Amino acid sequence: MNFVVLTIFPEMFDPFWSHGIIRKAIEEQKIFTSAINIRDYAADRHQVTDDRPYGGGSGMVMKPEPLAGAIRAASRTAPEAKTVLLTPQGRAFDQRMARALASLDGLILVCGRYEGVDERVCYDLIDYEISTGDYVLTGGELAAMIIIDAVTRLIPGTLGGEQAAEKDSFVNGLLEHAHYTRPPNFEDHEVPEVLRSGHHQEIDRWRLESSLMRTLLKRSDLLQQKDLDQQEVEILKNWHQEIEKILEINAKRHRG
Ligand code: ADE
Repeated sequence: MNFVVLTIFPEMFDPFWSHGIIRKAIEEQKIFTSAINIRDYAADRHQVTDDRPYGGGSGMVMKPEPLAGAIRAASRTAPEAKTVLLTPQGRAFDQRMARALASLDGLILVCGRYEGVDERVCYDLIDYEISTGDYVLTGGELAAMIIIDAVTRLIPGTLGGEQAAEKDSFVNGLLEHAHYTRPPNFEDHEVPEVLRSGHHQEIDRWRLESSLMRTLLKRSDLLQQKDLDQQEVEILKNWHQEIEKILEINAKRHRG
C-alpha cells in the first residue's frame, strides 16, 4: 500500500513514520510512505498556499493551484491511488471504512489547513472526503495519521504473529473482551479464575460474555445493529432472566 500525504507541514510526519508498527511496516515494505509539501507547488516566490475568501469573512482559504499541482504530481507517481480530502464534512471514518481502504493499492491524503480548501479542487481531483469525527482539527494531518495507522494494521503481516486484527473491537460488531496479564493479583484485584484455568472452551465463553457485557454497557448502539448468533442470544436471555429475577425479588420486598 502506497500512502502519499500532501501537506504544508511534512515534518509532522517524520516522528509518525519512525515508530512502532508503522516503522516496521515501512522497513518491511508492506507500506510505502511519502509526505509532499504543497508549498513546493506554489507558483510565486513566497510559496503562498492561502488567500482571503471571496465574499469576505474571517479566516483564509487554501488556494486551488498549489493543491491541484501537488495532487497531479502525486497521481503521476501513484496512478493506482485514490485521492482523499480530510475534512470534518467528509464521511465518518470507522473500522469498516478502514477495511475497505486497506484493500486499495494507494491513497493520496490531502490535508487541508486554514478554514478549508477552495471548493473547485474537489470537482475533479478528489475521490473521497473523509472525516475522523465530529470535531474540527487545525488541519487534516492528524486525521491522515489516524487513517494511515488504522489501515496499516489491517494489511496482512503488519501486526506481530500474536496480535491479530481479526479479534479487534468492531470486527464482529462487538467491543473486545477485557484483557489481563501478570501479576495474578494487582492492588487486591484478582485476574478472573477461568482465564488461568487453561480450559479453552470456558475461556472462549468468558471472553464472549465479557465482549457482550462491555458492548451493552459502553456501546449499546452496536448491539442494536448486530445480527446476533445463537450463543449470543442465549447469553443475553440468561442475563435478562437474571435481571427480571432481581427486579421481582426487589418488588416483593417493597410490597412487604
Ligand atoms: N480537518 C479538520 N478537522 C477534521 C476532521 N474532524 N476530520 C478530518 N479532517 C479534518
